[in-house]
Amino acid sequence: MNKVFDESCRVLDNWHIIGDFWTIKIYCPQIAASILPGQFVMLKVSNDTDPLLRRPLTVSRIYREEGAISILYRSVGRGTEIMTRWKSGQRCSVLGPLGNGFTLPEQAKSIAVLGRDVGIGPLLALVDEGAARGVMVYAFLSSRYQEVLEIASFDSCSCEAWFFPDGDKWQCGPFLTRRLEQIATEKTLDQIYIGGLCKFCPSCSLVKETHRIGTQRGSEVQVSLDQYMACGLGACQGCIVELYEDESQQRKGYKRVCKEGPVFRSWEVVKNG
Ligand SMILES: Cc1cc2nc3c(=O)[nH]c(=O)nc-3n(C[C@H](O)[C@H](O)[C@H](O)COP(=O)(O)OP(=O)(O)OC[C@H]3O[C@@H](n4cnc5c(N)ncnc54)[C@H](O)[C@@H]3O)c2cc1C
Ligand code: FES
Repeated sequence: MNKVFDESCRVLDNWHIIGDFWTIKIYCPQIAASILPGQFVMLKVSNDTDPLLRRPLTVSRIYREEGAISILYRSVGRGTEIMTRWKSGQRCSVLGPLGNGFTLPEQAKSIAVLGRDVGIGPLLALVDEGAARGVMVYAFLSSRYQEVLEIASFDSCSCEAWFFPDGDKWQCGPFLTRRLEQIATEKTLDQIYIGGLCKFCPSCSLVKETHRIGTQRGSEVQVSLDQYMACGLGACQGCIVELYEDESQQRKGYKRVCKEGPVFRSWEVVKNG
């Protein structure tokens, strides 16, 4: 468990990608020194009480030498709309690193990542870490916008990426999992990661299919969950979800997405078989 900082930070850049998609880069040296792929921060977007609560956002790229992180975000409401107005030099308070993050085992040689729209963000730092360690990465990404897919520039690693621009729904889900299954049949995948799912996604076919593919081939599947959050620190119980307790799926229990997650094993999330 790494130390949590409440840092007074400075926005370095905040650029509009397209539609409601943005990327913000923040100077936060204490957080940037220890944050891991898949972990998130709680960003205070206002100095007054509107909105009162901080907003949870996952790190998408880590610039350790610069002491900065970037976040891919979508402007969906009051808090994220305020963020779109921030310019370089804006001060903001950031709490983090929070949550557990993705695990990339020492011996991993080959991994696959699946993500859509802002769900691509959490995977970028993981792909960067994999590239730095010489891990082969297979990426299966989709977005309604080509421009969002272009920010997933994986030039630095041995990566094969298939991009699927699609509409409002993840219509390409079955296509992604078919391609994943082909690759998983031809190669050995040590780990499979799914980035930033909405709270309804555990029941979606993409997660179920990916879990089946991983289980049949002995590849662990890690899933990053999204849930409404208040404190982000494990204190308020506001982000609880009911998940399986053990791999045999005999028992279910309640877990806090902000503390025991946001990354879970797929067997915690979906039923076997
Ligand atoms: C651990 C975690 C990591 C996240 N990482 C990212 C990220 O990297 N990039 C990103 O764009 N978003 C991310 N989110 C979602 C983000 O926190 C919300 O979109 C944001 O808090 C909305 O705030 P708002 O004030 O703009 O919208 P609000 O006015 O609070 O809400 C606007 C709409 O969004 C819905 N909404 C708000 N919060 C959530 C949520 N957590 N899950 C699903 N729907 C929600 C509301 O129901 C409402 O319909 C993450 C959420 C969690 C829990
Ligand atoms: S948000 Fe408070 S316990 Fe998770």
